Amino acid sequence: MNAANKALISSLIRDIPDFPKPGVLFKDITPLLASAAGYRAAISELAASAPAGIDVVVGMEARGFIFAGPVALELGAGFVPVRKPGKLPGDVYTQTFSLEYGDETLAVHTDAILPGAKVLVIDDVLATGGTIGATAALVNRLGAELVAVSVLLELSFLGGREHLAGLGIDNTTAVI
Ligand code: PRP
Repeated sequence: MNAANKALISSLIRDIPDFPKPGVLFKDITPLLASAAGYRAAISELAASAPAGIDVVVGMEARGFIFAGPVALELGAGFVPVRKPGKLPGDVYTQTFSLEYGDETLAVHTDAILPGAKVLVIDDVLATGGTIGATAALVNRLGAELVAVSVLLELSFLGGREHLAGLGIDNTTAVI
């Protein structure tokens, strides 16, 4: 972990009180994305956290895409989108879970990843862990191997890491 990158990334994530509902302190990554140096630092740190030998990077709609695609390019891996319902045109597997703000369903093409492929899951934020847990279930359903999870920002007070550990996912890295 590069301390200068970490400090730069932290300085470019903005707290927005009471969004999307009262009592929630929203972490706004748009200033980070708008900064060439900040965005570069975020992608570099996420890519540096990846184990060797990743075949496919999986990212979740929508904010996960922003980070997972560039990390896939950086690693020389493929990119597979996990999307919200009704967006993927082919046959899909779906997984429903509880999110901080209500229920959500995620979907992946049934032929998106070859069985046995080594997968890195990338998202912007680990909050309750519902999104990553559901994505992990989809990766397992495809017969692929979830090697690691990396997120830019972990909201540790929401217990996502513990939730994932309860699902057997204990290889999660957070940049900040
Ligand atoms: C946010 C964020 C993560 C997820 C984290 O996505 O981008 O994917 O919540 O929360 P969790 O750990 O409690 O599951 P959101 O569902 O708001 O969608 P978006 O990316 O389309 O904004």
